[in-house]
Amino acid sequence: MTRALMPEHFLWGVASSGHQTDGGDDAADTTFVEHIQPTVFVEPAGSACGSWERWRDDLDLISAMGLNAFRFSMEWARVEPSRGEIDEAALARYDALVDECVARGIAPVVTLSHFTAPHWFAREGSWLHPDAADWFAGFARVVTERYGDRVAMIVTLNEPNLPRQLAGGFLPTEAWTAIADMLSAASSAAGVAQYRLGNLQRLDELDAFEAALERAHIAARAAVRQVRPGLPVGLSLAVADEVAIAGGEGGRDHAREVNYGRWLRLAQEDDFIGVQNYEQIVHGPDGWVEPPPHIERNAGGMAIVPESLAGAVRYCHSIAGVPVLVSEHGLAAEDDTQRCRFIPAALACLDDIMAEGVPVVGYCHWTLLDNFEWIFGFERRFGLHEVDRDTLARTPKASSRVLAAEVARRMVRR
Ligand code: BGC
Repeated sequence: MTRALMPEHFLWGVASSGHQTDGGDDAADTTFVEHIQPTVFVEPAGSACGSWERWRDDLDLISAMGLNAFRFSMEWARVEPSRGEIDEAALARYDALVDECVARGIAPVVTLSHFTAPHWFAREGSWLHPDAADWFAGFARVVTERYGDRVAMIVTLNEPNLPRQLAGGFLPTEAWTAIADMLSAASSAAGVAQYRLGNLQRLDELDAFEAALERAHIAARAAVRQVRPGLPVGLSLAVADEVAIAGGEGGRDHAREVNYGRWLRLAQEDDFIGVQNYEQIVHGPDGWVEPPPHIERNAGGMAIVPESLAGAVRYCHSIAGVPVLVSEHGLAAEDDTQRCRFIPAALACLDDIMAEGVPVVGYCHWTLLDNFEWIFGFERRFGLHEVDRDTLARTPKASSRVLAAEVARRMVRR
């Protein structure tokens, strides 16, 4: 196998996804389930941040922060809205984005599946269909043939481990019932036996989805490598920093194995592992330990722990053994001053483990804009820029300047 050509410079970027930012992906499964009843989505994404049209404005913001990378998804539903039919206009739009990134010195990091898939694919049972991996590999091939000469890295799947992780304590039983009810309603509305989604799964199908997603990753990775040997390809995982106090070691190790084990072993054959960290979980003898009352919390109610990123990265590298791309890291916060403190503190910890020798090839902050935060709609904000919901005008937050300053002083060194 040809050795992957890792980016020459450390990648400093922001991460985004098509459904959450571009909006308007009418042929996507998620758009379909946002509009049925019952649904678990508080509102539909609609045109999201309008980035399908306003992408040049977004690149201006990225350039203004002095970043050299942009992670975005190429939406399968846009490229192949009906099975076997490739939309040339969508490909041309991604061409323009990729070319403009390259012209500005911004390395494109492309995600092939950021939770969403085409409606036609969901109607077939999604990843559970026996041909799913082949179909996805076909899409990976289209993308790599077209853009493989200009993109820096390919992330096949975004967080295929997320449903399993959510099942480990994040979601109450009622939430799983609501998801199952939505999938039943979607199946009836679409007139099929099983309408399925990659990210909102039934509890009794988690095992089957994991096995299917693993096959899909392997097939897409092979397609990318066949078309473009040397182009780094991997997947990204949702990784909490799982730590233990005395007596919690067994719980921590169990959580690590269940949530990440198979994926980190799979990544041993990849070119990098994408790590996405948003929280730390403390395991004690009786399960998760509640953070002390004085600890600041994010908008999702979890403790804000800047050290968690370094912990997650160190752990993933220790098992996968390949270079790490921090493909997402961020904070849900109404109060941007929290984000302003969080970014420098987390990056300082990342510096420390890199100095210890953990190979990290880039850091992509989640996210450029306040965007569509899935089931929570637009109310939960992770952005470095505000977006006026009526005009879609973007306004930088102080945290965008904080990230820019942190990056500027490190770019000199790395
Ligand atoms: C996902 C993003 C999401 C972010 C914040 C990650 O799980 O990849 O799509 O918006 O976390 O919740």
